[in-house]
Amino acid sequence: MTTSNRTFALVTGATNGIGLELAKCFANDGYDLLIVSRGSGLEETCEMLEGYGVTVTTCAADLTRSDEVDKVCQAVTDSGRTLDAAALNAGIGLGGAFVDGTALEDEFSLIQINVMSTVQLTKRLLPAMVERGEGKLLLTSSISGTTPIPFEAIYGASKAFINSFFYAVRNEIQGSGVQMTLLLPGPTETNFFHRAGQDETEVGAMEKFDPADVARDGYVALMSGHDTAYGGGHSVEYEAEVLNRMESELQKAQRHRLISAPGSAKGSR
Ligand SMILES: NC(=O)c1ccc[n+]([C@@H]2O[C@H](COP(=O)([O-])OP(=O)(O)OC[C@H]3O[C@@H](n4cnc5c(N)ncnc54)[C@H](OP(=O)(O)O)[C@@H]3O)[C@@H](O)[C@H]2O)c1
Repeated sequence: MTTSNRTFALVTGATNGIGLELAKCFANDGYDLLIVSRGSGLEETCEMLEGYGVTVTTCAADLTRSDEVDKVCQAVTDSGRTLDAAALNAGIGLGGAFVDGTALEDEFSLIQINVMSTVQLTKRLLPAMVERGEGKLLLTSSISGTTPIPFEAIYGASKAFINSFFYAVRNEIQGSGVQMTLLLPGPTETNFFHRAGQDETEVGAMEKFDPADVARDGYVALMSGHDTAYGGGHSVEYEAEVLNRMESELQKAQRHRLISAPGSAKGSR
């Protein structure tokens, strides 16, 4: 089979965690890949994914910068390929008190990658899919988008944005033939919490879901035409769809601070 006959997918944040596992799902199904992260680990990940017998290209881009997001779009264009699927997955967390804790520049970086890069990539990539009348777009959100998260205030808000954005755009393009799927993982065993400075929180220290299972849930939903997937299974779905719809924002925030407050990890109390 020639390369151009194979399907082609973009995965951002593909060098670790959920994105790496999503990339493996695509590769396992014979998708050629364009994988994105800031750079470290890209070549090793590329080699590993090529072991699935697919062609993998890399794009080193810092998605906190709009000009670097454009580099990703350019890499898609330069590939000369039809983009059959995209998993806009790269994102970061940030733990700490909003007052006298977190730095505004870090919060702006989080908004840039979690919100702005997702909007920019969707804006650039979705129209061609809609015009063709086919394509698959997965957005990695979080169960955190269904509740306020004290001590992760900007993270929770960024994922609430993604949820609202997803449902609005999905509605606008319904009937176009393009599949949009929202992945809302629960706490997953990746570098995420450590990088966010949350090792001393209960949510950072607790046992978490396997990123391979989470990615598989999202991938299967995308491929089978489901709008949402709750990576991590029924407990995550229950929290998002039942608990977080029944309780007030005040109640949810109070419940969540028990696991997200600095020092809430059992060993550090
Ligand atoms: N882990 C969880 O519990 C959890 C739960 C719900 C939702 N999520 C969401 O799942 C997604 C993936 O998170 P993860 O848990 O897999 O995290 P992770 O293990 O830290 O992986 C993050 C990936 O994104 C890349 N990345 C980070 N900053 C970047 C930047 N500025 N520009 C480009 N790429 C960047 C990383 O590579 P480099 O650092 O090398 O660039 C890495 O490939 C995120 O959107 C996150 O919000 C995670």
